[in-house]
Amino acid sequence: MGISVEPSGQVCGARVTGVDLTGPLDAGTVHEIRAAWLEHHVLAFPDQDLSDDDLERFTLSFGPFGDDPFVAPIPGREHVIAIRRDADETSPLFAENWHTDWSFQAKPPAGTCLYGVTIPPHGGDTLYADQHTALDAMPAGLRLRLEGRQAVHSARGGYAPSGMYGEADAPQRSMDIRPSDEALATQLHPVIRPHPETGRLALFGCIGYIIGIDGMGDDEARELLFEMYQWQTRDEFVYRHEWEPHMLVMWDNRSVLHRATGGYDGFDRLLHRTTIGASAPAA
Ligand code: SIN
Repeated sequence: MGISVEPSGQVCGARVTGVDLTGPLDAGTVHEIRAAWLEHHVLAFPDQDLSDDDLERFTLSFGPFGDDPFVAPIPGREHVIAIRRDADETSPLFAENWHTDWSFQAKPPAGTCLYGVTIPPHGGDTLYADQHTALDAMPAGLRLRLEGRQAVHSARGGYAPSGMYGEADAPQRSMDIRPSDEALATQLHPVIRPHPETGRLALFGCIGYIIGIDGMGDDEARELLFEMYQWQTRDEFVYRHEWEPHMLVMWDNRSVLHRATGGYDGFDRLLHRTTIGASAPAA
């Protein structure tokens, strides 16, 4: 019996049932999940009572582990990080700005898996913006200005010692973030690029991790990136994901932007996260 895939009814996202992720998956099931992932970009698996071993095994069914810089793994694990906020925490929300994970790397991760360990009774939704649909619907004039351009990506705004999650922030934060001068590095990626597995074009990344456009003056680049941002995060391109305890979500960083939301002050929130490393482009 195959998996059951129920689309969210929003621009992307689907709920997957009929599979138990506490044991190894056979090749046919992995193939079905991958096909659903490539189609819907964000998959939610409710009612999965997963250990960190299960989470790691699931991740490795879809590619190698990605490299998670600037956030220390949880004790005893190399590839699991904690997305954590304590009930009384007052530091700015982690990942509240739109981004695609680690887009400043030379080979950014294909996907991210996030498992809900402690989910507050309200708030804490994760938003996903479908970058294929945003590109398809983009006004021709804006698209023309972006076509053929290379974006300059960097982690400096977040993880440099002076960044948002830098040295001044770390002592008040429950997450184990390790700012570093390595965040100052830059990396070019095309603004518009084909998805490595489906070939479908998408916008890749947004202002934040994108700090400029190669060969363009700072003012002009900022204006263009801001215009792009306003378009690519419009409500009609956004899927709002509501968490449940024991739910696993996997998303495709090549297809969507995402961001965290608040609204759960006074409650703990804890999720365990792994990344699926870049896979070779499909032949
Ligand atoms: C993340 O970007 O991994 C965190 C998303 C969230 O906390 O909702």
